[in-house]
Formats: sequence, C-alpha cells, structure tokens
Amino acid sequence: MKLAEAAAIVTGGASGLGRATAEALKAAGAQVTIFDLDAARGAEAAGQIGAGFVPVDVTDAGSVTGGIAAARASMGGLTALVNCAGIATGEKTVGREGPHGLESFARTVSINLTGSFNCLRLAAAAMAENAPNADGERGVVINTASVAAFEGQKGQTAYAASKAGVAGLSLPAARDLAGHGIRVNAIAPGLFLTPMLEGLGEEIVAGLAADVQFPKRLGRPEEFAALALHLIENPYINGTTVRIDGALRMP
Ligand SMILES: NC(=O)c1ccc[n+]([C@@H]2O[C@H](COP(=O)([O-])OP(=O)(O)OC[C@H]3O[C@@H](n4cnc5c(N)ncnc54)[C@H](O)[C@@H]3O)[C@@H](O)[C@H]2O)c1
Repeated sequence: MKLAEAAAIVTGGASGLGRATAEALKAAGAQVTIFDLDAARGAEAAGQIGAGFVPVDVTDAGSVTGGIAAARASMGGLTALVNCAGIATGEKTVGREGPHGLESFARTVSINLTGSFNCLRLAAAAMAENAPNADGERGVVINTASVAAFEGQKGQTAYAASKAGVAGLSLPAARDLAGHGIRVNAIAPGLFLTPMLEGLGEEIVAGLAADVQFPKRLGRPEEFAALALHLIENPYINGTTVRIDGALRMP
C-alpha cells in the first residue's frame, strides 16, 4: 500500500513507538489519527505532528467504535491500523506479598492483548468496506508484540503472556482477513528508548542494553517506525511477527 494514499490510525500515538510511527507516517504523506487514553499528551502530540486525535480506551468496544467512526469521517477512510497502545508490568508469580494478583494479570492482558484485538476487529470490519487497490488490498494491520513474547523474564508472566497472544494472533487473523484483502503482521521490538523504558531507571536500562549485540545501544523509536512503514508498504509480508532487536536474545 502506498504510504501517501494511506489513512492510518495509530493507537498509543501520544508517546514512544506510536508517536514516532505517527510522525513518520505523516512525513511520508499519509493521513494519520492518533488514539490514546492520555488526552492531554495525545492532543499535544497530534498538534505537533499535524495528525488528528481522538481520546480512546483500546479496551472499550464503544470507545474504539466511536473513535474509528470519527477517524474515518475526518480522514475520508481507513486503510491502516498500527496498534502501539500498551503497558509494561512486572510482578512475580509468587512474590514477597504472595501469589501474583489475578486482577493485575487480567489488566495487562486486557490492555495489551484484548485491546489490540479490539482495535483490529473493528478496524478490519471498516476496512472490509473499502474498494480494493490495484494489488487487491483493502487494508493492513500492525500489532506490537515484544521479544518478551518469546523470552519473557522473571516478573513478566502477565506481560509475556499478553505479547505472546499478540504474536500468536497474527497468522490466524491474516488467514481470517485474507478474503477481504487485509494483511496482519506484528512487530516484536527488543529494547527501545521510550518513556516506558525510561521509567525503569538508568541502571536497569544499562543492564538490559548490555545484552544487545549490534548496534550496542537501545533501539530508536524512528527505527521501529521505519519497519512499521515498510510493513504497510510491502504487500507480500503477511501473517508474521518481525523482530527488531539488534540480535538481542534475552536470557
Ligand atoms: N519500549 C520498548 O522497549 C518496547 C519493547 C517491546 C515492546 N514494546 C511495546 O510497544 C508498545 C509501545 O510502547 P512504548 O515504549 O512506546 O510505550 P509508551 O508508554 O511510551 O506509550 C504507550 C502509550 O499507550 C497508551 N495507552 C496505554 N493504555 C492505553 C489504553 N487502554 N488505551 C489507549 N491508549 C493506551 C499510553 O497512554 C501511552 O501513550 C507497547 O505495546 C509496548 O509493550 C515496547
């Protein structure tokens, strides 16, 4: 799909990887609408980028339905969805305070996995109404998994399970939507310098970065964005999860 002809929603676009993707899409000539729970930062980011903004909670069916209707109306259509909204959580299966909270586990899965699927299913239903382009494409969806989907660390049962779910649904969703001409892929980032990671503190971040092979540094959000744009453009990449991690394999 040509970027200049894309009308894209980027969830979690107020910050980090989503924001960088929204900015890169806009610079490539796409129309962009940001969805984010954080209304103040979402509106600020959209203003700076020149994108639209709708305050949306990805876990809420009504909120996403309304957001998609507003985005379609303002962009005159919807051809791409990049799911970046997510939270990072850490809690041991049995910790000092006792067993892992069930609510904290469910909340992580609700935002990272169910929230991504909620946006995917509703956006795909809208895309299915598009006229196909010259390649027969009606739309493309990109989800954000994590290398934790494959190499979750201590304290990451909830986060790793949510991201393994995101990676796992790429292929069946691509199969379900093939007849509609809609592609589905996921990106599994390693360690990227965003507010999510900055929150861990310098020492922990430096420790994590030590295992990155080359380039020996954290990823830059614009490097994630470049991959997201390629997955939108390249019609033959479908039903897969692409790692972007500087050859990092977490222990
Ligand atoms: N930064 C990394 O190293 C890294 C690595 C692997 C995977 N990821 C994944 O990439 C995605 C983006 O991460 P980031 O580092 O840019 O984080 P970030 O915290 O900078 O941005 C996440 C955004 O999602 C929004 N959000 C959270 N819950 C939401 C909800 N219910 N509805 C709508 N918006 C919501 C937040 O307000 C925030 O703006 C996440 O899914 C994260 O798990 C990040």
